[in-house]
Amino acid sequence: MQPTELGKSGLSVTRIGLGLAALGRPGYINLGHSNDLQSLDQDAMQAQAHKVLGATWKAGIRYFDAARSYGLAERFLGSWLKARDISSDGVTVGSKWGYTYTADWQVEAENHEIKEHSLPVLQRQIKESLGELGEYLKLYQIHSATLDSGVLDNQAVLDELARLKADGLSIGLSLSGTKQAEMLEKALTIEYDGQLLFDGVQATWNMLEPSAGEVLAAAHQAGLGIIIKEALANGRLTPRNDQPQFTEQRDILEGIAVKHETGIDAVALAYVLAQGWVDVVLSGAATIEHVLSNVQAIDIQLDEANLDALDGLAESSQEYWETRSKLAWN
Ligand SMILES: NC(=O)c1ccc[n+]([C@@H]2O[C@H](COP(=O)([O-])OP(=O)(O)OC[C@H]3O[C@@H](n4cnc5c(N)ncnc54)[C@H](OP(=O)(O)O)[C@@H]3O)[C@@H](O)[C@H]2O)c1
Repeated sequence: MQPTELGKSGLSVTRIGLGLAALGRPGYINLGHSNDLQSLDQDAMQAQAHKVLGATWKAGIRYFDAARSYGLAERFLGSWLKARDISSDGVTVGSKWGYTYTADWQVEAENHEIKEHSLPVLQRQIKESLGELGEYLKLYQIHSATLDSGVLDNQAVLDELARLKADGLSIGLSLSGTKQAEMLEKALTIEYDGQLLFDGVQATWNMLEPSAGEVLAAAHQAGLGIIIKEALANGRLTPRNDQPQFTEQRDILEGIAVKHETGIDAVALAYVLAQGWVDVVLSGAATIEHVLSNVQAIDIQLDEANLDALDGLAESSQEYWETRSKLAWN
């Protein structure tokens, strides 16, 4: 896969990246997640993660996305990169701080993660992430920065992020919920010495939830790197989704997939890649089969008729996030 730059950050990435939310812990919200994990034993899950990383690397992917709250995802990724003596020049890893994993390796847990965007959490978690990823870690993102967390009004945290940036790390934020656009507009006003603090933003954007598109395009214009997450709507834009209310959208997707001799997941990812302001779309695959199916997106050229048809599949942002909030941890 051709290397490309993440906005104006100077970081080398590939247009498809791998997100490890489903690979680093026994429980996650994606449809059918539990079916993919052969065993919940930590060593077995590391072995599965390493197999998926091997297939991902072979497919040419060179951007990997983790987080402190993804259980042992950083450790699985770090141990895989070190074991293969991969040069840090040849790969870019992004991770996230602000959520602490609390599920104690259980699928069912009262709290899977605790959110706290404070200076002590940032200072603790950057040490933990560097401990697991070392020089591979190049992009550090606030995890799901939302207006209610108040993180963009926390001067002590912003100053610490500016200090980490001066030390050579690229700084980003990930967004979530119906107010992604507002949050990004606010982030685009934060400067240090006349320079934007944030080098990149990670946001949910797909054919069901395109509401943040306009502000993401403006952020890209301003030089930020754009990373898209949940491009498959947590599995709802895959063959797994047999919900009756999805039939109409599914028929349109399948029609386009048949024409391009591929799967509806690859069409959904190609639709994201067709947006001129996207640098990286994340695959959230937890199996080799799904990685190989997802990366077919890189060779799909959707024509105007395809794009017009897919533009018409959007849900209201409210409806999208309500449906997402009901997805069970499995
Ligand atoms: N707030 C944040 O910062 C945030 C939030 C969410 C996600 N993310 C990042 O974005 C990445 C991707 O997002 P995501 O995993 O949440 O959601 P996603 O990419 O929208 O959905 C991935 C789901 O689709 C399934 N899938 C993929 N290809 C398939 C196929 N061909 N057939 C059937 N099922 C298929 C995967 O199943 P398998 O698991 O079976 O492969 C997985 O369950 C995450 O790993 C994470 O790095 C960040």
